[in-house]
Amino acid sequence: MTSEYQIKKEICEIGKRIYDRGMVAANDGNISVKLSDNLFLCTPTGVSKGFMTPEYICKVDAEGNVIQANPGFKPSSEIKMHLRVYKERPDVNAVVHAHPLYATGFAIAGIPLTQPIMPEAIIALGCVPIAEYGTPSTEEIPNAVAKYLQNFDAVLLENHGALTFADTLLNAYHKMESVEFYAQLLFISNQLGGPKELSPEQVNRLYDIRRKFGLKGKHPADMCLNLKSGNTSCHSNGKCELASESAASKVDEDLVAQITRKVIEQLSK
Ligand code: 13P
Repeated sequence: MTSEYQIKKEICEIGKRIYDRGMVAANDGNISVKLSDNLFLCTPTGVSKGFMTPEYICKVDAEGNVIQANPGFKPSSEIKMHLRVYKERPDVNAVVHAHPLYATGFAIAGIPLTQPIMPEAIIALGCVPIAEYGTPSTEEIPNAVAKYLQNFDAVLLENHGALTFADTLLNAYHKMESVEFYAQLLFISNQLGGPKELSPEQVNRLYDIRRKFGLKGKHPADMCLNLKSGNTSCHSNGKCELASESAASKVDEDLVAQITRKVIEQLSK
C-alpha cells in the first residue's frame, strides 16, 4: 500500500506539473487526495503549488476540519469544493483545480466545450459543461458544481477555471491536461475558420468504444443512453443537453426567431 508520505510527494509532483505547464499562476490551484471516507490530504492555501514539499500538505476530515497541518499552513480555501466532489462521487479518489489558459478563457467567455472535434477528447471527456459562477471559498461553487457531478469528470467553473476528478491523482491530472488540450484545439480551429465537427454517427462510434473499453468514471456517453429523447449521443444535435444549457437556450431563441419569421411571411402573403 502507498504510504501517506508517498501520496504527499505525488501531490507535490502534480503541483509542479500544473505550475510548470502554466495551468496556474502564482499561488493558484489546489489538489486533494482521499485517504479514507473521512480523511483527505490537500494542498495548503496561498502557496505556489509548483514549489511544495510533503511538509506543506494538510490533512482534513469530510467536514473540512483540520486534522493535521504544520505551522504556517492552512488547508486550501477551496476545500469545500473538493469535499463536495468526494461526497457525491464515492468512486473519486483525487481532485485537481487549476486555471489553464484556454479552458479558463472558454469559462470566462461562457462557452462550454461541446463541439465534437477529435476522437481523444470525445472518448476521454465527451463534453465539458460550465458550472455557474460562484464566489471562491464559499458554498456557491460546490453547489454549482454538484449538478454536473453524476455525468461528468471535468467541469469548467464560470469566470474562474476548471475542475477535474478521477480514481487516481494521475488520472485527475490527465483529465485537466485533456480539458486544456481540447479547449486549445477548439480555439485554434475557430481561428482557422471553424472546426469541421465529427458527425453524430462518428461520435456514437467513439462513445461505443469508450463503453467497450469499460473506462472508469462518469461520461456523457452514459448519460446519453438514458436520454428520454431517444438520442444516443449528446453530441448528436451538436449540443449536450446538460453541458450546454446556455447554448440550448440560444438554440431555442433561434428557433423562436425562425418561427416568428415564417409566421410573418405567411401573414404578409
Ligand atoms: P488556495 O491557495 O486557497 O487553494 O486557492 C487557490 C485558488 O486557485 C482559488 O481558486
